[in-house]
Amino acid sequence: MSDASILTFDETSRLGKVASVDTSRVLIAIENAVLLPRAAVGSLIAIQGATAQEFLIGMTERVTRQLREQAAQPDPMAPTILAVEVVPDDALRAILLGTYRTIQGSVRNRFKRGADSFPQIDRACFLIEGGNLQRFMGLLGKDLDETQRLELGHFAIDQSAAAIANGDRFFQRHAAILGSTGSGKSCAVSLILERAHARKHANIVVFDMHGEYASLAAPPARKDGSVPKPIASGFKIAGPGDLSKPPENAFFLPYWLLNREEMLSMILDRSDQNAPNQAARFTSHVRELKDATLKGKHETVRATFTVDSPVPYKLSELLEKLEEDDKGTKTGAKGGDIKGDWNGKLTRFISRLEGKAEDRRYGFMFQPPAVALEYDWLAKQIVRLLSPGAGKHGIKVVDFSEVPSDVLPVVTGVFARLLYDVQFWMQHEKRTPFVFVCDEAHLYLPVREDADAVEKQALSSFERIAKEGRKYGVSLLVVSQRPSDVSRTILSQCNNFLILRLTNDQDQNVVRRLMPDSLAGVLDGLPLLDTGEALLLGDAILLPARIKLKFPNIEPLSQTRNFWQEWGEKAPDAAAVAAAVETLRRQSRTAGKDV
Ligand SMILES: Nc1ncnc2c1ncn2[C@@H]1O[C@H](COP(=O)(O)OP(=O)(O)OP(=O)(O)O)[C@@H](O)[C@H]1O
Ligand SMILES: [Mg+2]
Repeated sequence: MSDASILTFDETSRLGKVASVDTSRVLIAIENAVLLPRAAVGSLIAIQGATAQEFLIGMTERVTRQLREQAAQPDPMAPTILAVEVVPDDALRAILLGTYRTIQGSVRNRFKRGADSFPQIDRACFLIEGGNLQRFMGLLGKDLDETQRLELGHFAIDQSAAAIANGDRFFQRHAAILGSTGSGKSCAVSLILERAHARKHANIVVFDMHGEYASLAAPPARKDGSVPKPIASGFKIAGPGDLSKPPENAFFLPYWLLNREEMLSMILDRSDQNAPNQAARFTSHVRELKDATLKGKHETVRATFTVDSPVPYKLSELLEKLEEDDKGTKTGAKGGDIKGDWNGKLTRFISRLEGKAEDRRYGFMFQPPAVALEYDWLAKQIVRLLSPGAGKHGIKVVDFSEVPSDVLPVVTGVFARLLYDVQFWMQHEKRTPFVFVCDEAHLYLPVREDADAVEKQALSSFERIAKEGRKYGVSLLVVSQRPSDVSRTILSQCNNFLILRLTNDQDQNVVRRLMPDSLAGVLDGLPLLDTGEALLLGDAILLPARIKLKFPNIEPLSQTRNFWQEWGEKAPDAAAVAAAVETLRRQSRTAGKDV
């Protein structure tokens, strides 16, 4: 960029002068009414600062014209009649966002967030438009070098200026993408993943609830027949159809990975009067079984492991031990056999555990293949996710669509906890930062007060990441259409927000509460955003801005359907409907046919 100042104003761009100031807002009395129609909500204003080199930059929040009656010049022909005329009082309210200096030290054209000083009454105010606007928007991404740029689209107020966020900052302290259904969140996720793919060693795990990001791993052909290159590896949590012959890309999450609380949240009925006994026996047996696995083979681990350590054991052996308790007898005072201490007290616990263990929908947890009981198996799985190696994609899409909804929170929670714990225990200098993309977060990261025992487990894992993850290089990208149903603890830890069209009042209020008060005016426009339009706020961008997101190269499988048009083109397919009935019975999309 040349040495010239990028903002140069003359009388034609002068709006008026400062009329009133509070801590974050200024009221500008408009003197040049010609400019008023161009100063729409969202447009940028420069206010002359304390020195000639300094301008405070604000964003228009409100433009008003009030009509005022005032005494007019008396008519010389009728000097006794009091004439009244109506004159407009034009005003513009702006929020202060930053400070621009034409020169600071030896650096020219510097913009920083936050107003360094308060505007002074009567200072001149200018509208930033045309060449000034283009150069100013260009300045916003200028300080970012190639390794930090995360280009998301272009600014709504200046279509020629690319909206570039700081990729480091975007992920460093968690981000959220919020917007009503169909507003374009999944497409925004695809775009961000595409940008991350351009980094050599991107490390991202996507929690895909509807299998809609499968297209990133196996892109469908475009209309012109060309097929884009995949940018991610596709995995799935093994469904009922994957148990007998697990495919390469299926993940199992065997019961022994679950810690005590996670397991009990699924099996234990807290209202059962024997619940404390059941939990105690379960804990004691699991500890013993894990101890037996470690004995003689992994003595260093054995010395310090806990009941929560992920050490394999056989479920059948646990059941045997519980049965023994439940049927157990002991020698009574008179020497005869009487009921043991636990006799009959574990029956319901056992049957709940067996119920889960036999249900094929929970097969990924209770019916893992034999290899998943080997001690080394866990490390191999984690390596697959966190360090897949040369030639493999750093972006991993994990399809959770066949996981039953009642255990979805535990499954996502265990998954995230394990990866986080591994990162936690890894040598500091060897860690590669990674991000969890939590799509449809309201399904498994609910507001704590509304959460049941299972959901509380997942919340604990994710809330811990939200609070401490920064230090270990683990970040969350929370995506949801119902921000009011998503854990406040997690949302309030997010530092960057991409907010798309948001129509529901409750959701808007939640978003408003997450933002500083000064931005309330900017958020008023949320219900009016077009599909793919968003407000980008947070420390990844110097100015909160309305942007139009670029459409991703590979679209997720979530297109809005054209009902009217399709009804004119395509008849329903009876065979496909019948096949879907069988799929429903199987609870698995994995192809299989009975002869
Ligand atoms: N940047 C964009 N420009 C134009 N169209 C877009 C853009 N982003 C998304 N769309 C369109 O909007 C529709 C919905 O997008 P998407 O699936 O991303 O919504 P969503 O917010 O994830 O919805 P849901 O909450 O239901 O998952 C798609 O048909 C897509 O083509
Ligand atoms: Mg979506």
